[in-house]
Amino acid sequence: MSIPIYHYDAIIVGAGLAGLAAARELEGHGKHVAVISKLHPLRSHSGAAQGGINAALKPEDSIESHMFDTIKGSDYLADQDAVKLMCEGAPETVRWAESMGAAFSRNEDGTIAQRPFGGQSFPRACFAKDRTGLTLLQTMFEQSHRDGVEYWDEWYVADIIQENKNVYGVVAYNLKTLEPAIFNARAVMLATGGYARAFKINSNAHANTGDGLSIYARHGLPLKDMEFVQFHPTGLAGTGILISEAARGEGGRLFNSEGERFMEKYAPEKMELAPRDLVSRSITKEILEGRGVGPNKDAVYLDLTHLGKEKILSRLPELRDLAITFLGLDMIHEPIMIAATAHYSMGGIPVDNDGRAKLNQDHRIHGLYAAGECACVSVHGANRLGANSLLEAMFFGRHVGQTIISDLKKKDFLIHKEPDQKDADRMLEEINRLLTSNGDEKVPTLRAELQESMTANAGVFRTEESLQKQKKKLKELRERFKHIRIDDKSKIYNTDLQEAIELGHMLDYSMFIVEGAIARKESRGAHFRDDYPKRDDENFLKHTYAHMDENGEIHMEYKDVNLGIFEPQERTY
Ligand code: FUM
Repeated sequence: MSIPIYHYDAIIVGAGLAGLAAARELEGHGKHVAVISKLHPLRSHSGAAQGGINAALKPEDSIESHMFDTIKGSDYLADQDAVKLMCEGAPETVRWAESMGAAFSRNEDGTIAQRPFGGQSFPRACFAKDRTGLTLLQTMFEQSHRDGVEYWDEWYVADIIQENKNVYGVVAYNLKTLEPAIFNARAVMLATGGYARAFKINSNAHANTGDGLSIYARHGLPLKDMEFVQFHPTGLAGTGILISEAARGEGGRLFNSEGERFMEKYAPEKMELAPRDLVSRSITKEILEGRGVGPNKDAVYLDLTHLGKEKILSRLPELRDLAITFLGLDMIHEPIMIAATAHYSMGGIPVDNDGRAKLNQDHRIHGLYAAGECACVSVHGANRLGANSLLEAMFFGRHVGQTIISDLKKKDFLIHKEPDQKDADRMLEEINRLLTSNGDEKVPTLRAELQESMTANAGVFRTEESLQKQKKKLKELRERFKHIRIDDKSKIYNTDLQEAIELGHMLDYSMFIVEGAIARKESRGAHFRDDYPKRDDENFLKHTYAHMDENGEIHMEYKDVNLGIFEPQERTY
C-alpha cells in the first residue's frame, strides 16, 4: 500500500494557542499551512488556562518591572534576553488578541481590567473572567479558520522525519481509521504542549502526554531543563483540577486545620500572592506536618467567602461551578479544599529566541521549530509566573510564525530531501508491535504506577533517595512496557492503541525529569531537594541539556544561562 504524501510550506503539530498563533501568521503571509492535532483545536489545553495573560499596560507599571518579576520568579534560571523580548512584546500581544475579537473583562473606564497574580509587583494579568485561555483559543481558532489554515483534526503525529539534523516532515495516522500519511514541508513546528500528566494529581488534560518531547528525544536530540515541573498551589482536593490563581489574585486566603493563615510564616510580604513554587511548598508542608483538612487531611482551605457573591459571580464563575461540581462546596458560602497539583512544564525542546530548535548553544536543527509549553526558550527558568504562559504561547507562537516566514524566503533554506515511503516505517512498526503484542501488562496499570510513583518520588519535595527509587521504578516500568497487551485490535478509533503510544512517551520523558533532578544537587524554583535545600549558583546556575542514547540511557550536559540584565539575588517574598 502506498502512503499518501502531502506537501505544505509549513506544518504545525498541535492546535493550542502557540500553534494557532503561528498558523495564523503564516497563512496571513500566503503560506500553505497544515495544523495537525490529535484533538479538535477547541479542546486544546490552552483553553483550560483560566486566570490571565500578563502585559505591562498601565503607565504606573513597566516592562522592566515585568521582566524583573519574571526573572526573579524563575529563580534566575530564565534567559534574560528572551524574557526581555517577551515582556516588550506583551502589550502588543494583548492588543493583537483584542483586535481579533478577544473579549477581555473591562474596568469602569473601558480599559482592559488587570488583576494581581503571584510574584508580580503590579496587577498585570489581563483576563476574561476566569476563562481567559478559552476566550483566546476561540478567537485564534476563528481567525485562523477564516484565513484558510488547513486543519487535520484527530490525526496523530507519531514521528518527525529527520536526517542528519535536518527535519523535512512528519508522519501521522488518522485516529479514526489508522490510515497513515506523510506530511512534507520545509518547516515543521512542534506546539504539542506540556508533560505534567506524568503525575497522579495534575491539572492537565488527558491529552497532555508530552508526545512531541519524546518523539523528538527518540532521535537523540536534547531536551532542556526537564527537571523543572511546576506544581500549582490550588488544585481541587482529590482531583487536582485547576482553581485559578485568580482566586488568590481576587483576594482568596489560605488556612490550615488550626485556622492559621499560614502564608504569614512563609512569605510575610506577598502572602498568598507569593510565586507558585513557594506557595505549593508551603501548602504541602502544612499537610505533611499534620495540619491538613478534609477526610484524608490532604488539603488546606481556600477561603473566598469575604469577596461576596457579586464579585465571585462576575470574576470567578467557572471556579465556583468547578468546586460545586467536584467538591459539593459553594465558595460563596464556605471555604473550598485545595492542594498542590502538577501543572506546567518549564523544560522542553531547546529553542533560540526565534523558536529554532537547537542542539546546543551553537548548532541548530534545520527545519525544526517549537513554541509554547513543549518549548524551552527559556523565559520561565526554574519557576513560571502565573499568566506568563498564555503570554508565552501567544507571543512566541506568532513570533515563531514570523521566523518561519523569513526563513522560507532564504534561498538556501531548501527542503533537505523528498520524503520516502520508508519514512513511515518506524511508526508502522510501532503500531504493529503494539497491536500484535500479547504480553500480560496493561496500559492503565502501568500508567497508574507511573503517575503514583512520580508524585511520591519526584513531586514537590525530592531527595536523592526518592529520586533513585523513581529511576529504578521507571526502568522497571519501561521493561514491563515491552510486554503490554491491548485488547482492542481494531482500526476504528482505537483509543487503547493511542493510550499505549502515549504511555511510551510518558515513560521516556519521565526519565529526563528524574535524571535531571538527580543531577541537580541544589534547590531552585520548582525543583526542591530536601537534601540540598539551598540554591547553588556556583555549580548550578546552568541549563540542563540531556539526551537519550540508543539504549535509553540519559546523558547530561550543562550550558550557561543568559544573564546580563539583572544580577542573581537571594529570592525572598
Ligand atoms: O491559575 C491560573 O489561572 C493558571 C494560569 C497559568 O498557569 O498561567
